[in-house]
Amino acid sequence: MKDKLILITGGSAGVGRAAALGLARMGARIVLLSRDRQRAEQTRQELAASTGNERIELLQADLSEWASIRCAVEQFKERCDRLDVLMNCAGVLYLRRTVSVEGAEMTLAVEFLGHFLLTNLLLDVLKRSAPTRVLTVTGNAGPLRFARIHFDDLQLEDSYNPVRAKLQAELAKAMFMVELARRLDGTGVTANAFHPGLIRSRIIRNLPWYLRIPGALGMALLSKETGTGLYLASSPEVEGVSGRFYERVEREEKIPFDSKEARRLWRLAESLTGL
Ligand SMILES: NC(=O)c1ccc[n+]([C@@H]2O[C@H](COP(=O)([O-])OP(=O)(O)OC[C@H]3O[C@@H](n4cnc5c(N)ncnc54)[C@H](OP(=O)(O)O)[C@@H]3O)[C@@H](O)[C@H]2O)c1
Repeated sequence: MKDKLILITGGSAGVGRAAALGLARMGARIVLLSRDRQRAEQTRQELAASTGNERIELLQADLSEWASIRCAVEQFKERCDRLDVLMNCAGVLYLRRTVSVEGAEMTLAVEFLGHFLLTNLLLDVLKRSAPTRVLTVTGNAGPLRFARIHFDDLQLEDSYNPVRAKLQAELAKAMFMVELARRLDGTGVTANAFHPGLIRSRIIRNLPWYLRIPGALGMALLSKETGTGLYLASSPEVEGVSGRFYERVEREEKIPFDSKEARRLWRLAESLTGL
């Protein structure tokens, strides 16, 4: 991976950090997109020290703010003339409904709309650098089969709960990757969604103690160091594979949804992000 440039959102913790660690070990040049400069710098130093890879850089952006994303993309394009893999790993979990400065429900804003805008603004570089890959983290296939997009209440103003918000955002990301793959057919840019496996993470920090403690214990005992994302980012076996969802390495799953809904969601995302 020495000649590859990888941009990872959520690179300061959890899934993104695990992917960055694995890819840094393989020698790739890595750009960590993160909101919190201090945490990102600490991660950068830790990754460089443990892998010996000094080619790890930072890019600051808040994925819930469209102007911040646009500004980060401009900076990225000034600094880098290619992009081999875009890994959309940032994620959130809010117990109570929270709204972004753009007026969007925060889970949808960060996980789907922010990544939607970022990915679309980077498509010119990805196409120019092809063959290239877009990868987006999402949830487990089991619960995703029961998820739906609440077109009548997309911002969950009437019906918020964290599980509903997570499932909607995760399904939206899976639909986004399939629709993106369709639109990018023949360009040399692939788009896939993946479940990362269990990765040690900060995402449970806002949960009540009776959920946080077993969650932390499970992560300490069962979490893996890398996961499916690393395989999809680096393996030649998935070169050219697009529009799929991987639950585990080499294990593709189907998430049933209506492709008309995926197109409807795309149009909504365009208007909500001002793309
Ligand atoms: N961990 C797992 O085992 C697991 C399993 C299945 C699915 N997932 C999914 O993977 C996603 C990431 O989870 P995680 O475990 O990696 O969580 P995490 O440890 O909390 O890390 C989340 C990352 O997202 C970034 N982030 C949050 N809000 C942001 C914003 N507004 N703008 C830019 N970056 C932002 C954080 O950056 P800052 O440091 O700047 O806050 C952090 O780097 C979630 O959707 C989660 O549901 C995780």
